[in-house]
Amino acid sequence: MMNNIQRKFKELFGGQAAVYASPGRVNLIGEHTDYNEGFVLPGAIDKAMFLAIRPNGGKQVNVFSIDYDEMVTFLPSKEKLPEHWANYILGVVMELKETGAETGGFDCVFGGDIPLGAGLSSSAALESVFAFALNDLFGLGKSRAELARIGQLAEHHYAGVRCGIMDQFASLHGQAGQLIKLDCRSLGFERIPFDPQAAGYRLVLIDTMVKHSLASSEYNVRRQQCEAGVAVVRQKHPSVISLRDISPEMLDESKSLMEPIVFQRCQYVIEENIRLLRACDALQGNDLPTFGQMMTGSHEGLRHKFEVSCVELDFLADLATKTPGILGARMMGGGFGGCTINLVSAAAHDAFIEEATGNFEKQFGLKPKVYDVVISEGARKL
Ligand code: GLA
Repeated sequence: MMNNIQRKFKELFGGQAAVYASPGRVNLIGEHTDYNEGFVLPGAIDKAMFLAIRPNGGKQVNVFSIDYDEMVTFLPSKEKLPEHWANYILGVVMELKETGAETGGFDCVFGGDIPLGAGLSSSAALESVFAFALNDLFGLGKSRAELARIGQLAEHHYAGVRCGIMDQFASLHGQAGQLIKLDCRSLGFERIPFDPQAAGYRLVLIDTMVKHSLASSEYNVRRQQCEAGVAVVRQKHPSVISLRDISPEMLDESKSLMEPIVFQRCQYVIEENIRLLRACDALQGNDLPTFGQMMTGSHEGLRHKFEVSCVELDFLADLATKTPGILGARMMGGGFGGCTINLVSAAAHDAFIEEATGNFEKQFGLKPKVYDVVISEGARKL
């Protein structure tokens, strides 16, 4: 991939360019908790977005996408671009500008091996690699956490998804063999070593190949429902700022004052945060079975209370739960499609994959893709 990008750069612009990478992410547990100021437990993966880039001394941005086989040229302004993908880049440039960090024009080529629309955060990796490279090339002096925030805001304002900070944060902060227990309120984080191989396990993603078109609008609806719940509890407890501040008992107290669906959404988030903390304790105590149970509990909550799963994801999660040797399985990311993440014993791995992909194909008529992932390094210059 890297060679492809450099070759294309030379062909289009001539000469050499600096090359950067920023990866996709998995999240072990803590879903839809980030924008509620809770905790998440992501790690960067061994699939990334790569970027060859060189300042051009002018103001114009010339960007070529290998995947779309398309060149876009623009002068940065708040006006959105007709090419959907180019808005992520425009967004990063403009959000940097909002903070007073001016970039000049640049020529670049990008592409990657993160499957698109599979819930592995290819768009966050794209934002992150641009934020990281522009910060480096133009000497903007931003921290990795500040760059993550820039990527998140680009997503809000230029892609219309009011996402949390997890994906960009993981892409920028990843380290090999380490998960990131991130407090999305303070952005303080702790690295938790995670080496399932050493314990005889593998981390496997099974891609339903479902790309749900409602995903981004439903995502924003979930956010509003969480905010609606917070507003009700705040009437009794004025110091409450987010779901992070609300205990299960406080939520119960206000149950009769909120719509049942709002209650259910909030209950999921509060429980998921508790599950995450238990899961981290289990992981640090080398108790993978308990960790796996928390993952499976997360799926149940996402399915029945937060309602962001789909039949294909439920099918795979149910099958994993019934299979001996699978410690935990759940849908991952925003939902409505994408992958399940499975913690699978090495001994059960091959048979499980065969059974899961075979049964899925019988049921839905297409064979899911499977990715064995390794927790890897975050954004970097190559
Ligand atoms: C998407 C968002 C993240 C997070 C997850 C759900 O990946 O980009 O910020 O909210 O969904 O946990």
